[in-house]
Amino acid sequence: METIMVELYRQQAAQWRLELRLEEEALSLRAGDEAKTVLAGLGKRESVTVELVRRAAAKAVKTVCSLGGESAVLDAAPAVELLGEAGLSALVQGAELCRYHQESWKAVPEKPFTLYLAGTEGLDGEAALARAEALVRGIRFTRDLVNCPPNRMTPEHLARRAAGAGEKAGLEVQVLDEKETRELGMAAFHAVGDSSANPPRLIVLRYKGGRQGEAPLALVGKGVTFDSGGYCIKTTAGMRDMKTDMAGAASVCGAILALAENKVPVNVVAVIPAVENRISPDSFLPGDVIGSMAGKSIEIGSTDAEGRLILADAVTYAIEKEHAGRVVDIATLTGAIARMLGGVAAGVMANDDAFFAKLQAAAERAGERFWRMPDYPEYNKLIESPVADLRNTSNGVAGAITAGLFIAAFAGDTPWLHLDIAGTAWSNSSEKEYQPAGATGMGVATLYELCRAMADE
Ligand code: BES
Ligand code: MN
Ligand code: ZN
Repeated sequence: METIMVELYRQQAAQWRLELRLEEEALSLRAGDEAKTVLAGLGKRESVTVELVRRAAAKAVKTVCSLGGESAVLDAAPAVELLGEAGLSALVQGAELCRYHQESWKAVPEKPFTLYLAGTEGLDGEAALARAEALVRGIRFTRDLVNCPPNRMTPEHLARRAAGAGEKAGLEVQVLDEKETRELGMAAFHAVGDSSANPPRLIVLRYKGGRQGEAPLALVGKGVTFDSGGYCIKTTAGMRDMKTDMAGAASVCGAILALAENKVPVNVVAVIPAVENRISPDSFLPGDVIGSMAGKSIEIGSTDAEGRLILADAVTYAIEKEHAGRVVDIATLTGAIARMLGGVAAGVMANDDAFFAKLQAAAERAGERFWRMPDYPEYNKLIESPVADLRNTSNGVAGAITAGLFIAAFAGDTPWLHLDIAGTAWSNSSEKEYQPAGATGMGVATLYELCRAMADE
């Protein structure tokens, strides 16, 4: 059930009034002089960001809801003046995402709440609001998929959910089953996918909003619906959150759905290798040498470094079969990135500086953080194998970098970005007001903005 509605203010009666104040301490809240007025601080004008607006709006809405309020009018003017449409989008995200509850088998009764946005004069308010709402729906869809328990979220289930939503949004949907992917020679994908009784799926969603014949940008999302580690089995603590190992896949779904809903004039294809990493009597072993769709041989250093295997084949598929002109992969790929950057930023690897600059600009508009990792040639030595073209581990050093470089070998000359969201896709705290504990939806807004910017190229 939707428990929050956001509409443009047209003199509707509202119980509360919310104001975002410049030059008042960021994220402070206080009562205004008039009754039922909440003033939320945005801090200094020059340090206002998308993230801050999102948090301030979420905090104000949450407060009014907790006081039993059912409606409020919010003056959007300061956010819109400073950040334009991104400011309005941040307000809508803050208000709507703070009321996100994961699909649950417990009932969470909650009063509906309506927020009216005033002060949107600098924009085509109606259109900007509709665009923001589509992005929010994408983020919610992503959170729902990631929060879903792993006994339900199998590769087949992920395919059904992605296909269902994709068809509704007007995407071209193709789900390749295990026979089709085997025929394509996707041996690295199968090394992992064949470890489970739940068969693997390759999910392809095509959004053709751009010029006919223009090469699409591929969004490749890691879809490991559960990562036990395989024979290199994880510890109990290490395995606990591994239902989130399809967060990259979920982000890619959320982003392409938002693009389609908003009819952004670009060509984008989502490619999602969906597998479970489990243990079966004949599943792959450390020391195995396997093949790949690109023809490169791979020595298995660890069955727990499964993400790069399925991504390698998915990237090859995107370039060879979907004729992608650029590729972005997004994945909960390494514990190393979570240890290095925590939940504060995601890691990036890029083989093209101009493409990376576009990502940075998109992330800025989206209010998400990405940090570029180095790719010095020496790091490539760490994934060399004495018996195969590549090895899927680096003996424990530079784990996030070497994981990225492994995938880079399959991107070849195609402009490519790799986003490692292992630390940021999931949060155990609800410290950010718009992000209840659980799946965050990290990456959806940035991927959306990155693709949207292609329309202006
Ligand atoms: N899915 C994990 C990475 C991960 C860790 C995601 C923590 C979210 C939170 C990935 O498949 C993995 O197991 N990586 C190994 C690689 C290693 C064996 C080279 C890791 O990071 O330990
Ligand atoms: Mn793993
Ligand atoms: Zn994994």
